[in-house]
Amino acid sequence: MSERGKVDGQTKLVGIIGYPLRYTLSPVFQNAAFYHLKLNWCYLPLVTENKYLEKAVYGVRALSFVGVNITMPYKQKVIPLLDEVSADCEAIEAVNTIHLKDGRLIGYNTDGAGFLALLKEQANSDVKDKKVMLIGAGGAARAVAAAVAKAGVSEIYVVNRTFKKAVSLCEVLKEKCSFKAQPVDLRDGLTSFVGNADIIINATSVGMKGERLPLPYEKIGEGHLVCDLIYAPSKTPLLEEAEKREAKVLNGLGMLIYQGALSFKIWTGEEAPVDVMFSAAKKALAEPSQA
Ligand code: ATR
Repeated sequence: MSERGKVDGQTKLVGIIGYPLRYTLSPVFQNAAFYHLKLNWCYLPLVTENKYLEKAVYGVRALSFVGVNITMPYKQKVIPLLDEVSADCEAIEAVNTIHLKDGRLIGYNTDGAGFLALLKEQANSDVKDKKVMLIGAGGAARAVAAAVAKAGVSEIYVVNRTFKKAVSLCEVLKEKCSFKAQPVDLRDGLTSFVGNADIIINATSVGMKGERLPLPYEKIGEGHLVCDLIYAPSKTPLLEEAEKREAKVLNGLGMLIYQGALSFKIWTGEEAPVDVMFSAAKKALAEPSQA
């Protein structure tokens, strides 16, 4: 919004479709970015029940939105409702950003690129030739796996509680990214994998309530970069353990902000003010209602 709270006939609309969307930070940091750049834009939470998803996506066109983000639980389900999806979405089979361009709904996925931007900007780390231990095989893991595979890592160990899901993510990587990753059971001795890896990424929900992943923490050391896609709490037990052992650590707030910054660029054509987005999100997280 060019002036805080001001919406008029010229205001361009974007938003986020998901359910139940109670804790989304995207409206907070996207609107802060519009305000900062004096853009007459507004980002809205568009709470959509499953039975209305098709109508809601039609509404993007009907109501002349510039675009929307798509979040849980619709990232896959939305694909058949679009006119086109970009190459980023193919391996991941998930869309997190829609752009209405020349009357066509185009789907993108900025999650993986957001993760790579985070590593580059906040950890000064290029993933090329690095060995990655990725814990998790769900939607978030899939986006990160495809991005790092394409960015030239040398190895990926996909570690998951349900082994067959790790196997199937490795099959997707082989088929869609020509990358041979190694599936690993979370219950196996992970000592050698942790020891070998340069980058360890938690893409599971373990840690949101303070739970500990069953890892050989003593093998983590100062050469490791440890990333957790969770941002609340800001330090999961994994990050606490890693920090204690002098590894570099990153939580998931950066991935959230960078994927949002890339969506912002798709819609507005302008570089997003990432620092402004970070401070707005951190401020909102510090408020008791977000805890
Ligand atoms: P998202 O889209 O956020 O990735 P998801 O697709 O439901 O969510 O995936 C959740 C991931 O967290 C999965 O890898 C899941 O492991 P399973 O495939 O075995 O279900 C992992 N996960 C969730 N709870 C877990 C737990 N208590 N221990 C280990 N892994 C867990």
